[in-house]
Amino acid sequence: MSFFHQRPECGGEPNECRINPSPAADLATVMERRLDRRDWLRGAIVAGTTVAFAGIADAAEDLPLPNILEPSSRQPVPEPQAAAPQEATAKTEANPSTLTFAEVSHGLDADIHVAHHYQSNVVISWGDAIFPGMPEFEPAKLTGETQRRRFGYNNDFIAYMPLPRGSQNSERGLLCVNHEYSIAYLMWPGIADKMDAVKKLTKEQVDIEIAAHGHAVVEVRRDQGFWIIDVNSPYNRRLTADTPMSISGPAAGHERLRTKADPTGKIILGTINNCAGGITPWGTVLTAEENFDTNFGGNIADPKIAKQEQLNYARLGLKGETDYAWSRHIERFDLSKEPLEPNRFGWIVEYDPYDPKSIPVKRTALGRCKHEGATVTLSHDQRVVVYTGDDSRGEYLYRFVSDKPYQRNNAAANRDLLDHGTLSVAQFKEDGRLVWQSLVHGREKLGKDEGFDSQADIVIELRRAGDAVQATPLDRPEDVEVHAASGRVFVMLTNNAARLKPSNSNPRIANLHGHILELQAPAAGSGFDHTSNEYRWDIFLLAGDPSKDGAKYHPQTSPNGWLTCPDNAAIDAQGRLWIATDGAPKVTGNKLADGIYATDTAGPGRALTRMFFRAPTGAEVTGTAFTPDGTTLFASIQHPGDEEFAGVRSTYDAPSTRWPDFKPNMPPRPSVIAIRRQDGGVIGT
Ligand code: FEO
Ligand code: CA
Ligand code: CA
Ligand code: CA
Repeated sequence: MSFFHQRPECGGEPNECRINPSPAADLATVMERRLDRRDWLRGAIVAGTTVAFAGIADAAEDLPLPNILEPSSRQPVPEPQAAAPQEATAKTEANPSTLTFAEVSHGLDADIHVAHHYQSNVVISWGDAIFPGMPEFEPAKLTGETQRRRFGYNNDFIAYMPLPRGSQNSERGLLCVNHEYSIAYLMWPGIADKMDAVKKLTKEQVDIEIAAHGHAVVEVRRDQGFWIIDVNSPYNRRLTADTPMSISGPAAGHERLRTKADPTGKIILGTINNCAGGITPWGTVLTAEENFDTNFGGNIADPKIAKQEQLNYARLGLKGETDYAWSRHIERFDLSKEPLEPNRFGWIVEYDPYDPKSIPVKRTALGRCKHEGATVTLSHDQRVVVYTGDDSRGEYLYRFVSDKPYQRNNAAANRDLLDHGTLSVAQFKEDGRLVWQSLVHGREKLGKDEGFDSQADIVIELRRAGDAVQATPLDRPEDVEVHAASGRVFVMLTNNAARLKPSNSNPRIANLHGHILELQAPAAGSGFDHTSNEYRWDIFLLAGDPSKDGAKYHPQTSPNGWLTCPDNAAIDAQGRLWIATDGAPKVTGNKLADGIYATDTAGPGRALTRMFFRAPTGAEVTGTAFTPDGTTLFASIQHPGDEEFAGVRSTYDAPSTRWPDFKPNMPPRPSVIAIRRQDGGVIGT
């Protein structure tokens, strides 16, 4: 979600509210104490992969920043500019990275930029039809009914699922894409900003927003080196905020999930604020419900709302100060009319993209919070492990371990694996240990005395359960990636501008730029034990400009290679980490667009990030996903043109960019792009 989708009470996006009352030491404090105990500059937790990070004082002077747009020159944004081509560099002493592409220059303008000798094409954009017989998209003609048959807004997570099921086909597959949120002032004329939209939007416009949230399944294929969609595919599908879904696990049918429309507490209309997600080994897709709190209006102090739910909602930042007009037009989003509806969101949803008639399932055993994503791996014993970050300032990292193992070629045995297992939360110790504290009803601090009557209460109030076991507050945990060959788990901590406590190891007063954490699951047999109660942990990099932000990378990171605000990530077949960012324009004063950076995770190029791709102004990059052969990288360009300069907001009527169409009557459109090497080779080599 964009930094510019403001919530006045937080001074930022909904994830920027810190509402965690836990007295547990947060990660900054743990880092300070831990780093006091060791020489962390010697490097990594894994023997043989040590690296000296760049210090602050000896780093380069201010960076050259081509295409910088100062606030005074921001309206209108200049047309796209060609970046000076740079040649690829071989892996040498000067470039110890295995990544040899020519870096994109830092900067910010109206278009995308991809590394020299690479190409990209727009695969699908907001409003494109995904069913046959539909006319070209015209925003003014959109209705709720037609939006349900078109690609939704603000595409985020992407799963590439090869066709046929179970194959490794890299030329034909399903793109399974989240639609995180809608931005009324970029979708329609005459709307000044978010609060104006809350007041003005009609029932018809709200119906379009309902249909623009959720998820899409679209068949794609490679054609002459570019990717195109097949509108005639029987797999194409939209999940929206009113698609019926079932609910399973400890909270299914619980009285805290029952509403007038669903007295059973087992059938929920829709999924909203779908951010990142995951793919299971049995070929289903997980989609994570993140900032659902923003969609509900009303007053949580309303006497119709039980005290327990008032505390529950407050702990999630849900105050009824909605970002949407939905509660004015749809009863279930009004807390005074349907006080338990919020308990039906904030879950991980599983569905089968290969069966367009399958009913999605909200898997409550994975807990309820503002889930960024749900990253799945198999442990040494084939049990299924899901890592999920709760993206708000000062929130936690969670892990689910299934009771039973995954069974290849036994679909029935795998179908409900995510309903039975153990949920736990991360506690980072100063001595480098990471302890997973189980969140099981009845253990110390998680019983009736603390207001948890059953496991249903634990999963519904996951944050409060984490507080009770002294989980470690983190600086907005976003995406998680598992490096299968080494048992390492990378956690993106995007930023926390409100943390005002400097430390010896992190002299930044606020963590504007974020970190990447590296967790090490213990070795077990020929694999790694992702079910262990104890891991090791360390810091992979501290983001920001090494010349002035106290950032720490490989010392040979170039002036274009540093990044800020890590958010989404992917790991390629060579084990390299591809990091997508969200927030660079804001924290650099509109000098740097968001983008994609890549780095080795081990060896002499470890933590040497290189800039591969730059987004258009106002956009973040999300959802990166490789084809199995590594020759295509799909990426979501989310909220292009969503920004404010010198007090002037970019709107439908005067957008800062019209990417990707650049047509006078078309607003900027969130889109999925496909990036390939011009010679068709493996990306990054
Ligand atoms: Fe939707 Fe946490 O980004
Ligand atoms: Ca984000
Ligand atoms: Ca994100
Ligand atoms: Ca990811």
